[in-house]
Amino acid sequence: MSKPKVIVSRKWPEEVEAQLKELYDVQLNENDIPMTADEMKHALANCDAFCPTVTDAVNADVLSGDNIRAKMIGSYGVGYNHLDLDAAKAAGLTVSNTPEVLTDCTADIAMGLLISAARRIGEGERHLRNGEWTGWRPTHMMANKVTGKTLGLIGFGRIAQAMATKAHFGFGMKIIFSDPYPPSQEVINKFGATQMSVEEVLQQSDFVSLHCPGGKETYHLINEERINMMQSHAILVNSARGDVVDNQALIAALKSGKIGGAGLDVFEGEPKLDPGFLDCENAVLLPHLGSASIETRIAMGERVLENLKAFFNGEIPRDKLV
Ligand code: DGY
Repeated sequence: MSKPKVIVSRKWPEEVEAQLKELYDVQLNENDIPMTADEMKHALANCDAFCPTVTDAVNADVLSGDNIRAKMIGSYGVGYNHLDLDAAKAAGLTVSNTPEVLTDCTADIAMGLLISAARRIGEGERHLRNGEWTGWRPTHMMANKVTGKTLGLIGFGRIAQAMATKAHFGFGMKIIFSDPYPPSQEVINKFGATQMSVEEVLQQSDFVSLHCPGGKETYHLINEERINMMQSHAILVNSARGDVVDNQALIAALKSGKIGGAGLDVFEGEPKLDPGFLDCENAVLLPHLGSASIETRIAMGERVLENLKAFFNGEIPRDKLV
């Protein structure tokens, strides 16, 4: 029996690509250049399973062809705001993502950004590299203490809970949160967390960390009006999706000192960075590295493999979205 044809949109860790080659008639993306919409349409018309990632907009247009051969989309990544699930379902496709395996690493990056922004780690490193350091002194680069402060989580799902574990049990932080779909009372009690409205979280937090999904419902959830509710020393951390935050409002608040700082791993319009961020010494900026540990990126690929295997065995993939 011939092997199913699988097309992968970007370069994956070589351990996972080796498994793909063994199991499938696979078309890899050796040069790692992102696929255009037309190339994705062509892929869907010429494979049994297509494996895009979070930067590939598999939208209604891409899924509109009447010659779609693919039956499965095994997306590499947990977020799925790049996928039009309704259009995929209408086209008869099964779609899966890769939850759980990137929870810890994304929370690690969020915590790293929080500490870096609070303790001026990026700024301090630039200071040193620029040859500006004249020595220790009592008032040099004083910053905000992290331990014991209040962390506000917008969204209290898996990644936020992993962040709360580090922040509460490691740094003695008080946890408050807002989530329209809160976790069980048992989880809430574990952190002694208090549920509030988004506005109350913004008003009461020393640090606000975003962990909500992207998409229409959360677009610019953090806008000028809400940023103005934050305390002047407060720090905003975003490791979720860039378009949850209004770039212009955040840049203005960082420049005017309306808030204390920001730690950002994701950006509206990424990978294009609004140059306004570069002028903000009080912002720590990373190029979407949340899940970028070797172990996690391999585990994400293996999770796609697990979903493909189930699908081609006629079973329901573990991470089926539709
Ligand atoms: C995801 O998986 O959604 C992250 O943004 C990238 O790992």
